[in-house]
Amino acid sequence: MNPIEELSQVGKEVTECNLCELHFSRKNAVPGEGPADADIVFIGEGPGFHENEQGRPFVGAAGKFLDELLGKIGMKREQVFITNVVKCRPPGNRDPKPEEVGTCVSHYLERQLAAINPKVIVTLGRHSMGYFIPNVKIGDVHGQSFQVRGKLVIPMYHPAAALHQGSLKPVIEKDFARLPELIGKASQVNENAKQSPPQSQEPPQQLSLF
Ligand code: URA
Repeated sequence: MNPIEELSQVGKEVTECNLCELHFSRKNAVPGEGPADADIVFIGEGPGFHENEQGRPFVGAAGKFLDELLGKIGMKREQVFITNVVKCRPPGNRDPKPEEVGTCVSHYLERQLAAINPKVIVTLGRHSMGYFIPNVKIGDVHGQSFQVRGKLVIPMYHPAAALHQGSLKPVIEKDFARLPELIGKASQVNENAKQSPPQSQEPPQQLSLF
């Protein structure tokens, strides 16, 4: 299967998925969207009210702010792939449970990432960060670069956090402003990873040179 076919196959499976209890309360599953050859994949937490209504990621207030952040670095949402660690809305916007994240990521997110093979993965908020870089605090590591299983991963605050706490707005804007430069540098990481393929158990490595 080519990447476009694989993404569409994952999307179909997500809409029919009943692997965890989140499928009972969802209106629409939200597989994610964007081009199969995107340089950047943004990974949020899970669909909220509006996403559950429309079946599309980041279409509420946080999504509007994400569009603005992209606009400030000269990018449009159509150029990036946007998805979440869990594809169905946790009822009442509760946190996704670790077993829900584990099931959804292994069945769907991992396949999306393998198909897209992006230069950079940006995690939005602590739930998606925790999957790639466990045991760190977002306040300590936001905007920094990590090599995780051969991929450049940059944890950032969730746009909704910046909407709730105004002081985080300039912080997330500053982290976003560095993305174009980091996409350029990511080619270097990907080259290095090709020369010495990462071991699957290799812990995240912080890249001090970035
Ligand atoms: N928040 C998320 O984490 N994901 C969405 O898709 C929308 C809001």
